[in-house]
Amino acid sequence: MRVVSGIQPTGNLHLGNYLGAIRQWVAMQDTMEAGDECLFFLADLHALTQPVVPAELAANTIEMAATLLACGIDPERSVLFNQARVPAHSELAWLLGGTARVGWLNRMTQWKDKAGKNREGQSIGLFTYPVLQAADVLVYQATHVPVGDDQKQHLELARDIAVKFNQDFGLELFTAPEPFVSAAAPRIMSLRDGTAKMSKSDPSDASRINLIDGDDAIAQKLRRARTDAEPLPETIEGLAYRAEARNLVTIRAALAGTTPQAVLDEVAGQGFGTFKPALADLAIAVLAPIRDELARRMADRDAVAAVLAKGAERARTLAAPTLLAAQRAVGLQV
Ligand code: TYM
Repeated sequence: MRVVSGIQPTGNLHLGNYLGAIRQWVAMQDTMEAGDECLFFLADLHALTQPVVPAELAANTIEMAATLLACGIDPERSVLFNQARVPAHSELAWLLGGTARVGWLNRMTQWKDKAGKNREGQSIGLFTYPVLQAADVLVYQATHVPVGDDQKQHLELARDIAVKFNQDFGLELFTAPEPFVSAAAPRIMSLRDGTAKMSKSDPSDASRINLIDGDDAIAQKLRRARTDAEPLPETIEGLAYRAEARNLVTIRAALAGTTPQAVLDEVAGQGFGTFKPALADLAIAVLAPIRDELARRMADRDAVAAVLAKGAERARTLAAPTLLAAQRAVGLQV
């Protein structure tokens, strides 16, 4: 098993990233068997597809790495690095650019959402972003790619690119990776709008819980989270038209490591006046130790940078054979 996944180092990690992805990374690392390999990276090249402040990108990369360490990524067992330090990602992305089709990229919902009506004004990078993402996983022959639901389409594209490249060049070079969206890794929605995903780019900080939030901020954001006036139902079906209520039940289930139905079995009939404080207590119990560990890690940024440097060295070694094989396949190596 080769597990590969990435996250953009754009500001703080939030609860959606944690419950939707990072916790699965840690679980996969912790259950890895001899011969398996886990690679996790900061997608700093992907961050360039939006306007960046250079000093912030560098600082965010270290902070995000420290956050991953605080969440339980163990550099003795997983390879942790930043994408820019492994040139094979960009080099393979260029080769795959000959395989991916414009029509495929045009169908990407993230592209459509981010570009909106102003497609002509977007960076080329934002459009070809999924090709780099395909290279990220194909260069390591990833078998499993743990991601949140919103990244599934990009991973399906990576499979299409792998299959077409293999077909076009008549070889079995790339492994078609599986997007691994665990049932325990739900899509977490904004606390202000149950139909929008919790996101770093939401202008309202009240819409998300950041992993650096203090206990009071966590409690306050959950207390003020948008809900409705109905008591909680007995079954999931009862949440069908209650996006905000469903989101809070989903968050509670994910934090408690149980299912939304099991949460409802416990809380059916309760109003949010009772439900929210209990949810806040649970969120604080899970998140406070991570926040404290993050503060400890951030006190020694050089140590975090050293972890990334060592990870990149190992990643370069792991990426080299596939890049070379791809160069040979297309005729670049004589
Ligand atoms: P990014 O940085 O937006 O998010 C990192 C991971 O967090 C998940 N996620 C969520 N899950 C549940 N609910 C949410 N509200 C939520 N918000 C984010 C994402 O699904 C993701 O798993 N393009 C990727 C980074 C990337 C990558 C890769 C991932 C680059 N190369 C190769 C996997 C493999 C991204 O921008 O994720």
